[in-house]
Amino acid sequence: MKKLFLYWFLFFLFSNGYAQTTRSLEQRADSILRLMTLDEKIGQLNMETGNWDATGPILKSGDKIIAIKNGEIGSMLNVKGAKNTRYIQSLAMQSRLKIPLLFGLDVIHGYKTVFPIPLAQAASFDTATIRKVAEVAAKEALASGIHWIFSPMLDVAHDPRWGRVMEGPGEDPFLACAIAKSMVEGYQKPQHGLHLMACAKHFAAYSAAIGGRDYNTVDISEQTLQNLYLPPFKAAVKAGISSFMCSFNEINGVPSSANRKLYDILYNDWHFKGIVVSDWGSIGEMVTHGYSKDRQQAAQQALSAGVDIDMESYCYTDFLKKLIQNKSIDESLIDHSVKKILMQKLALGLFDDPYRYCNEKREKEDILSPENKAVALNMARKSIVLLKNTNNLLPLKTVRHIAIIGPLGNSSRDMDGNWVVLSNQPIAVTLLEAVKKRFPDATVDYVKGCEIQGSDRSNFEAAISAAKKADVVLLALGESWDMSGEAKSRGKLTLPGLQEELATEIYKVNPHTITLLMGGRPMIFNKIAKQAPAILYCWWLGTEAGNAMTDVIWGNYDPSARLPMTFPKEMGQIPVFYNHKNSGRPPVDVKGNYSGRYIDIDYKPRYVFGYGLSYTAFRYDNIKVSHDKDSITVTMELTNTGNYDGTELVQIYLHKKWGEITSPVKELKGFQQIFLKKETSRLITLKVALSDLSYYGVNSWRSASGDYTLFIGKNSDDTIYQTDLQL
Ligand code: BGC
Repeated sequence: MKKLFLYWFLFFLFSNGYAQTTRSLEQRADSILRLMTLDEKIGQLNMETGNWDATGPILKSGDKIIAIKNGEIGSMLNVKGAKNTRYIQSLAMQSRLKIPLLFGLDVIHGYKTVFPIPLAQAASFDTATIRKVAEVAAKEALASGIHWIFSPMLDVAHDPRWGRVMEGPGEDPFLACAIAKSMVEGYQKPQHGLHLMACAKHFAAYSAAIGGRDYNTVDISEQTLQNLYLPPFKAAVKAGISSFMCSFNEINGVPSSANRKLYDILYNDWHFKGIVVSDWGSIGEMVTHGYSKDRQQAAQQALSAGVDIDMESYCYTDFLKKLIQNKSIDESLIDHSVKKILMQKLALGLFDDPYRYCNEKREKEDILSPENKAVALNMARKSIVLLKNTNNLLPLKTVRHIAIIGPLGNSSRDMDGNWVVLSNQPIAVTLLEAVKKRFPDATVDYVKGCEIQGSDRSNFEAAISAAKKADVVLLALGESWDMSGEAKSRGKLTLPGLQEELATEIYKVNPHTITLLMGGRPMIFNKIAKQAPAILYCWWLGTEAGNAMTDVIWGNYDPSARLPMTFPKEMGQIPVFYNHKNSGRPPVDVKGNYSGRYIDIDYKPRYVFGYGLSYTAFRYDNIKVSHDKDSITVTMELTNTGNYDGTELVQIYLHKKWGEITSPVKELKGFQQIFLKKETSRLITLKVALSDLSYYGVNSWRSASGDYTLFIGKNSDDTIYQTDLQL
C-alpha cells in the first residue's frame, strides 16, 4: 500500500503536478521530505566535484554513477556544458525519488566570455555595467546547465599579499556593498524564464588572514568584523541572494565552517532564508585547525551551526547517520537543511523539468555572442586606470611605427587571468593582435624583452633596438595569470623577474613609452612610477583585453576607473589602506618626533584609494551641503574644462570626529560617475543616507549622530572641499 502511494505520488510529482499546483514551495518541499529516507536526505547535503572519469572509479567514495543513482549526491560542481550536465542529470533521474541535482560552478568573471577580474570591475566604480556583466555571465552559464554560480566574492581586503584580492571588490565596504547588490541582481535576474542562484562568499573575514597568507588565521575585533567585513554580505542578503559559502579561515579561534556566531547573524539578524554551502573540504579541515576532535565531531558542529551542504569533505555522508543514531543530533536539523535545498530546486523549476537549464541550442546562441563581447569590451575599457600621463602623452594620435615590448604583449592566456572556467581555450585578444588590426598599414614590431619571471636578459638588446626605431613603445608588463588567485599569496609585490629593469632600459631610449601593467593585485613598481612617462593599470581584462587597451591608448575612451585598493610603495607598509584610524600620534612628515611613522621608509602609499586620472579636467563649483533626518544632500556644478569628453567620479567621504569608538579618518559614503562632454557643465545632486553612517560600537549598532567632517575629493587623499556637520 505504502509503495502504491509512492508511485502515485511520483506520478503526480513528475506529470507537472508541481507546475500546476498552487501550494507554496514550502508545502511542496515538505511533501517530498516526507517520502525521503534518512540516507536520501543526507545525500541532499552532499556536494561532490564532477572532475571525474564517467566510466572509471572515482575520487573517494567509489562509483559516483552509483552514488548519484542512489540519491547520495544532491549537488555537483565542475560539471560543464549542456551535454555533460544533461547526462549526469539523467543519472539522478534514475534514483528512487528522482530528485534533480544542482550544478554549481565558479563563474567568477564570466563563463566563456571572460570579463575583467572582479577587482578590475570594482575599479570601474560603475555598478550598472557590473550588473550587466553578471547578467551576461549568468546567461552563458544558464545555457550550459549551470544552476548555481559561486560568486560574488565579497571579501573586502586590506592586504595585497593575499592572492585572492583579484576576486574581490577591493578595500572599501561601501563600494563592496554597491557591487554586491549589482552582482546579485545581475546574476539572479530571470532570463529565458530561468534564473540562477548566486552565492556570497567567503563568509567571513577570509581576507584578514595574518601575513596575507591564504587560509591563515584571522584574529579581529568584533568592530572590525561588523564594520568592515560583514556589510557586503548583509547587502547581498538584502538584494535577495539565494546562497552563501563559508570561508576556510577561523575567526578568533572558531572556524567559519562551524562559527555559530556568524550564522546567528546571518539567519537571525539578517533573516537569510537560503542555503549555506561549506568551502571545499572546509568541514573536515576543522580537525586540522585543531577545533574538532575528529571528522564526526566536525560534521556535528558544522550542521548544528547552520552549514547545510558539505562540499567535498564527506563528513556529512560519513557521519550524519551515526550522529542521529547515537542521538548527538536530531533528525529535524537535517530536515531543516534538506527542506531549504528542495525549496531552491523547486524554485528553479527542476522538479518540473530537470533538464530545463541544459540547452545545446541556447548554448550555441548565447555563449560568446557579439553582444556578450561588446559588454566585455565596455567593462574592460571602464576598468583601466590611468596612473600617470606626463605632458599629456596619452591619448596617442597618429603612429607609423609601433614597438610592443614585454612578456605580456602577446599572451592570450594571461589576459584572462585566474579563475576562468575554460582556461584551456584562451581566446582573449592580445595587445599585439589589437594594434595590428587597428593599424594594418603601420609597422608593428613585437619583442618580448624578457620572460615574466627569471633572470635571462639575452633578449634585452633586441627590445632596446626595437624601442629605438619606433615612434612609440607599448610596454606590457606584470604578473602571469597564475600569480594571483587562490593560494597565490606573494611575499614580494614588485614586478616579477627582470621586467622593471627592462622598463628602465626602454625609457632611456624612447621617451614615448606607454607602460601597461597587468596583474591581479596592486603591485610595487617604484622605478616605473618615477621614470615612466605614462602608465595604465590594466589588471587582467579578459576576452577583449587588447581592444580595450587600444581604445584607451588612442582616446576612443577616456579612462574613468579609479583604484579600489591602495597601492603600497614598500612591502613594509602592508597592510596600508585609506580607511585606517588616526591613533593618538598620527604619522607626520617631519623626522625625529614621536609620531607613528617609519624611521626607514615612507609611511605614505604610492597611490591612494580612489586615485585615477582622466584625459580631461573637471571643475567643481557652488558646492552646497545640507542634511535632514534621513540623509545628507550635496549639490554642485561640475564642468568639464578639458579637451575631451569624459567621466568624473565624484567621491564623498565622511569622518566621525569622536564617539563611543574611534572611526576611520575617512570612509567613502557616496560616489557618482558623471559623464560630461567637453566644455559642458551640469548641476548634480548626491545623497548620503544616514543609515549608511551607522556603525557597530562597543557592543551594539549605533546610528549616525554627533560631529562629522564631510570631504569631497578627487580621491581619498586629494580633497576639493570639506565642511563640518553636526548630525
Ligand atoms: C574556493 C571557493 C570555490 C570552491 C569551489 C574553493 O577552493 O575557496 O571560492 O568556490 O573552491 O571551486
